Amino acid sequence: MLVSAKEMLNKAKAGKYAVGQFNINNLEWTKAILLTAEELKSPVILGVSEGAGKYMCGYTTVVGMVNGMINELGITVPVALHLDHGSYEGAKKCIEAGFSSVMFDGSHYPIEENIAKTKELVKICEEKGLSLEAEVGAIGGEEDGVIGSGEVADPEECKMIADLGVTMLAAGIGNIHGKYPENWAGLSFDTLDAIQQLTGTMPLVLHGGTGIPADMIQKAISLGVSKINVNTECQLAFAAATREYVEAGKDLQGKGFDPRKLLAPGFEAIKATVKEKMELFGSVGKA
Ligand code: 13P
Repeated sequence: MLVSAKEMLNKAKAGKYAVGQFNINNLEWTKAILLTAEELKSPVILGVSEGAGKYMCGYTTVVGMVNGMINELGITVPVALHLDHGSYEGAKKCIEAGFSSVMFDGSHYPIEENIAKTKELVKICEEKGLSLEAEVGAIGGEEDGVIGSGEVADPEECKMIADLGVTMLAAGIGNIHGKYPENWAGLSFDTLDAIQQLTGTMPLVLHGGTGIPADMIQKAISLGVSKINVNTECQLAFAAATREYVEAGKDLQGKGFDPRKLLAPGFEAIKATVKEKMELFGSVGKA
């Protein structure tokens, strides 16, 4: 059964570790992440962007697939199904479709409008027992058409949004989606520290988990980050393993063209990436 992300994230914040949000794109992705979480006894959050939701034939298809897999694979660790960077309308659709968690990304609105819309969603999510993530300060880079400029959030604005009763808060601290450029300035830990001072026990979310060095991840966790989003890294691992298989001519040997064989190296590569992240985030054995 899907669960809200509230309990797992409050535990993570108190225990000074982070739960990974891994974005899904299809059946192989979902199965790889769920099996790894179960093997490592780690709680997990499956992220679905609006674009990926569309690609997977809509939110109800995603809910059906994930619930079916949890059942058929005998997954016992806590799993939250979470809308990533949702619009106001997208969030409502996911709530209706059976997601257990949503993000409303109102970071591109003026703060007053972000507050008004977040407030409405807080009420709906509370009634249904779902977790809600809000965002202040756009995350840089591009993810599925959602483009952010890489702002550093204003801690006072973070407090205003946190006080609305959201479950977790994403704040821009110089992080970006996708690969980091050579001249990246790194995370702004002063900002993170200031945000945590003002928001107290609120679990903080670090987007753009791909390519952030391990020491920065650990420092971010020590300053209150309890949810870390990873998307691109699984895509890169899947693509590299698939390329290797094809370049070695394995799809031309025997029944190597069978999708169950062709997609297997990529599947294993996602599992290895997720394992590495769960170990780094400290969520292994916490389910
Ligand atoms: P990356 O693709 O950089 O890992 O970012 C993922 C993310 O933040 C999803 O919201």
